[in-house]
Amino acid sequence: MRVVTVVGNRPQFVKAAAVSRRLRERHEELLVHTGQHYDDDMSRVFFEELALPPADRELRVGSAPAPVQTGRMMEALQPVLADSRPDLVMVYGDTNSTLAGALAGAQLHVPVAHVEAGMRSFDRDMPEELNRVLTDHASALLLCSTDTAAGNLRGEGISDGVRVVGDAMADVLVEMAPLARDRSSALEATGVERGAYLLATVHRAGNVDDPERLAAVVELLSALPAPVVFPVHPRTRARLEASGLEARLERSSGVRTTPPLGYLDLIALAASARGVVTDSGGLQKEAYLLGVPCVTLRDRTEWVETVDAGWNTLVDLDAEAAARALERPPPDARPDLYGGGHASERICAEVDAFAATASRLG
Ligand code: UD1
Repeated sequence: MRVVTVVGNRPQFVKAAAVSRRLRERHEELLVHTGQHYDDDMSRVFFEELALPPADRELRVGSAPAPVQTGRMMEALQPVLADSRPDLVMVYGDTNSTLAGALAGAQLHVPVAHVEAGMRSFDRDMPEELNRVLTDHASALLLCSTDTAAGNLRGEGISDGVRVVGDAMADVLVEMAPLARDRSSALEATGVERGAYLLATVHRAGNVDDPERLAAVVELLSALPAPVVFPVHPRTRARLEASGLEARLERSSGVRTTPPLGYLDLIALAASARGVVTDSGGLQKEAYLLGVPCVTLRDRTEWVETVDAGWNTLVDLDAEAAARALERPPPDARPDLYGGGHASERICAEVDAFAATASRLG
């Protein structure tokens, strides 16, 4: 079967790294990079560290307001899909690249497989929520990380093609965490000691685009009860500069900012941290898998199991609640929630089954 995989952002490079290698053993894959993330430290480093095959097509769409960016991606995808005539379009997660790939595939009557289907925050103000819902409703094969996600789809009347396969990000973590420990010198480079610092990341539009909320983020990070390593996403960097909050952050003696980090450095820092403070979905999961308590700077999460298991606390931007959560000892138990590192096997098995059915019907 011929599969066109559409990626464009950091978290998608990570997930595709687990799946692409295996997929290529049995199918022909054309990897398309939309160019939504284009800086070396947002893109190239992930391809290199995770041995993701180089993109077969680069659409070089770059940054733009969401409707423009999504439209450009679809325009650039049309000839790629028309020329390569795939049997399946594969997309990951919930970004503009995900939606563009799904919609372009569906409009050209190519079945779409969505990895990480069914995640919901039930907050339609989040650009990602819109992308997820629309992508799921355009997909034929809905590959869910958790039972909760499959339940969310049932709630929206989607049951055909829904499979619970585990989480591909977990596969990469299982494989790469030992390598990160051996190869990364991020702790030395940032001057922190194992177990004595916090790792923070903040990039959600809802937290950084509103200057008042961004100011609250800066106050919260500055008041945390341990030194903080804070790799700054380019969106966040731009908003900090525009609002004059960058100087306030740099003055805070407890916060050490860094440029965006590659996968190995980020995982090495997460693995040795006393806690993780984040609004990223991926990092909530990664912290759980590494056995590091997480404080999430949102009032809800798609990864509800991490909260139910007691390892993740939602504090929105309440600095005192964040500090309190970080003082609590972590729970004793950490059940396997995300497929134990076998999601990519199951995803590829589902693609095989889909191919078998398609060839029987075709
Ligand atoms: C996107 C996803 C988000 C995901 C995140 C992972 C959407 C709606 N959002 O958010 O779900 O969690 O990726 O990181 O798709 N920029 C650079 N260099 C780059 C890329 C971006 O400087 O390589 C800057 C630009 O100023 C750009 C801004 O960052 O305008 C935001 O980038 P964009 O890709 O639009 O969204 P993210 O915030 O990265």
